[in-house]
Amino acid sequence: MRLIGTFCALAILVQSVVAFPSFLHNRDIDLSHLSREIDSVLARVPAEHLAKLRRDASLQKRSTFSESQLIDVSGVHAYAPPTAGQTRGPCPGLNVLANHGYFDRSGVVTFTQSVSALTSVLNLGIDTAIALVTYSIAIIGDPIALTWSIGGSYPSSIPLILPRPGGIDASHNNYESDASVTRGDSYLHNGDVWSVQLATFKKLYALQDGPDADYTKDVLIQHRKNTFDYSVQNNPHFFFAPFSGLVVATAAHNFVAYFFANHSAEKPEGYLDQKNLKSFFGITGDTIDTLVYNYGTERIPDNWYKAPNPYSLVDVVTEILESIQANPEVGAIGGNTGTVNSFVGVNLGDLTGGVINSQNLLQGNNIFCFAWAAARAGLPTALSGVTSLLGNVLNLLDTKLAPYLPALACPAIDEFNLSLFNQFPGYTQH
Ligand code: HEM
Ligand SMILES: *[C@@H]1O[C@H](CO)[C@@H](O)[C@H](O)[C@H]1NC(C)=O
Ligand SMILES: *[C@@H]1O[C@H](CO)[C@@H](O)[C@H](O)[C@H]1NC(C)=O
Repeated sequence: MRLIGTFCALAILVQSVVAFPSFLHNRDIDLSHLSREIDSVLARVPAEHLAKLRRDASLQKRSTFSESQLIDVSGVHAYAPPTAGQTRGPCPGLNVLANHGYFDRSGVVTFTQSVSALTSVLNLGIDTAIALVTYSIAIIGDPIALTWSIGGSYPSSIPLILPRPGGIDASHNNYESDASVTRGDSYLHNGDVWSVQLATFKKLYALQDGPDADYTKDVLIQHRKNTFDYSVQNNPHFFFAPFSGLVVATAAHNFVAYFFANHSAEKPEGYLDQKNLKSFFGITGDTIDTLVYNYGTERIPDNWYKAPNPYSLVDVVTEILESIQANPEVGAIGGNTGTVNSFVGVNLGDLTGGVINSQNLLQGNNIFCFAWAAARAGLPTALSGVTSLLGNVLNLLDTKLAPYLPALACPAIDEFNLSLFNQFPGYTQH
């Protein structure tokens, strides 16, 4: 297994001006607590979950049903929107967990609580959950207290060493991206990347009609093309980064169809109607003209059955590839150069020192390897992948997740030339 480990030995050339918190410079932050927490979470994963992760990579092959997929939304898990001082952010999956008390209702969560709720309530694979949560803690959370925020900033546990963690809201271009499912582009909305833009939601909504509406993966693949095109055509500062754009924002489109669908006995493969789609996005109203969005009101519907199978990292990659294969343009990385309709895609070969190029990106596990290299490359110039906190955290992840991933050999990317992005105003100014 040389998945992320491949990148350990790399001298990644980075000329990024993306503002990462200064504690990322501190490679001496002790990660033994994180290491123990990961071990302890993994030790408690039901054998059945692990078996499903390993069995095969295709979600489509599996459509079982069990009554245990019904999610409790009563009592301590009753819906309540955030009160003053509680935070919500750009991710509806995270917001519903907080609104139902599966996450701390404050919106600031611990490593263990977040991994456990994501896997048990939504059926995110344990590998995906650990990777996403750990990355959150490393870039916008508190790596000592092992907490992070699904929305705005919060006080640090060690203010002298660690500045105030920014939360997902502050992760534009590192985690949060332009061309989202419903949230707005940073430049077009003055930095508000967490609110649903009703016009964008309506475009998704209108892709299906009436009582038979079903927001399937194919519908979301179409929406992904539309959201990408919209940003090209309307945002002079559109920037589509390797990790936050191509990987995270594209995966988020696929997540809508898979995770929000009602996986019942009748339709174990999942069915996402208009009522449930609105509920997960905090939208009310009966007709398209009367739809209303209220911040922080994402809600799990009553009588909702979660997906039957854990969504592994292999599933993440498989579904991103399906989206790119359907619409190759959304597989580009780059941005507009200051005017609308000026999209320039960077040459992947130039970006990766020739290791991954547009011909082989879709082959084997290259997009997966590329995603991890991209995640690691989100580092300021002074830092190399091996001497920063983020580098150390990703190395730790590599070791911990190795046994749960198929043996994927990644080509060594010796260089990740981020100076290619300097031509895009959206890379440096949001
Ligand atoms: C630790 C786990 C997770 C993290 C850290 C996370 C983080 C994020 C981030 C940073 C975005 C913004 C992407 C963008 O700007 O386009 C996002 C969007 C999104 N996420 Fe998550 N997410 C997680 C799990 C989930 C899960 C389990 C689901 C589904 C149940 C989900 C569904 C979505 C959707 C649908 C969007 C698009 C939001 C929109 O544009 O309206 N996420 N998430
Ligand atoms: C899910 O499907 C089952 C079976 O059709 C149905 O009883 C239940 O109400 C549905 N739940 C939602 C939230 O639509
Ligand atoms: C990185 O890209 C820039 C801009 O194209 C180029 O000038 C520079 O030579 C590249 N660096 C390396 C090491 O290839």
